[in-house]
Amino acid sequence: TQNQTEISRVRNFEKIHMGRDEIEPWYFSPYPEELTETGVIYLCETCLSYFGSEFQLRRHRKKCQLLHPPGNEIYRDQDVSFFEIDGKRQRTYCRNLCLLSKVFLDHKTVYYDVDPFLFYCMTTTDQHGHHIVGYFSKEKESADGFNVACILTLPQYQRKGYGKLLIQFSYELSKREGRLGHPEKPLSDLGLLGYRGYWEEAIVDLLVDGDLKVSSVDEIASTLAMTVNDVLHTLSYLNMLKISKNNHVIVLTNAILERHSARKAKEQLKGKRQIDPARLQWKPPV
Ligand code: ACO
Ligand code: ZN
Repeated sequence: TQNQTEISRVRNFEKIHMGRDEIEPWYFSPYPEELTETGVIYLCETCLSYFGSEFQLRRHRKKCQLLHPPGNEIYRDQDVSFFEIDGKRQRTYCRNLCLLSKVFLDHKTVYYDVDPFLFYCMTTTDQHGHHIVGYFSKEKESADGFNVACILTLPQYQRKGYGKLLIQFSYELSKREGRLGHPEKPLSDLGLLGYRGYWEEAIVDLLVDGDLKVSSVDEIASTLAMTVNDVLHTLSYLNMLKISKNNHVIVLTNAILERHSARKAKEQLKGKRQIDPARLQWKPPV
């Protein structure tokens, strides 16, 4: 019933301890009841194993072998790295990651069956080592052309541009595959905001600053590895699509150009995290 669904969505514990951070859960996640009962879960920051007390976590940390996510480091640019992890080879890690991400994802079922997925984990490094910032998962074979199943920036890192970095990375993989990709629907509210932000920036940057003379929706889609549908939706959401003689015409409105130059000015001042495709050491799995 309605009521039962409501109840199952409610978060079932109070706090997660993770490295130097204390995080408040947003939604239900099926951690073992003997842990959720006490209200606080202690996570090993590197292998994402969970414990009921600080004592147990400390004991584990003494013997935990992992220094960073398992799998291959396929990207590094200054302090940012990406690791590609096969759900089948690293089941425990990937299940731990899914349990953690369910804490912040309401509308997705947690996949206990992690085998069909690859996980792309982003870390930042400091003097203490690697810290997981976020990840996205991706079906090894997607009949629907999805290039992202679930995407998450951990709350302590949100609103700093990491989400757009994850999204950009997912499209760089699609470009290497020579395919158009799109995220699994439905998107959460925050997911939609993140994607809209990325799509607008990618499309407008391409039209304004790109050296290519891109002029059609199809060309935008293939250059950015986006689906035609997502390009059309973004353009019409931004009021950049006019119909003339039964053709779509793309217009760069003054409002769009002003937003673009304001954003560029801000990026010059503050710098912008960007994926550098030349640093991606990756070929599509065969
Ligand atoms: N309020 C308003 N706008 C927001 C907010 C917010 N709380 N969060 C993000 N945005 C918008 C902004 O436009 C922002 O750009 P700006 O800061 O330049 O204005 C843009 O989204 C992207 O911001 P980022 O900092 O790049 O993204 P972030 O690191 O915060 O990650 C993400 C975005 C991954 C969606 C994050 O909010 C998250 O993990 N949410 C919880 C899990 C989730 O809902 N995931 C998506 C599910 S859909 C799917 O998995 C396919
Ligand atoms: Zn560990």
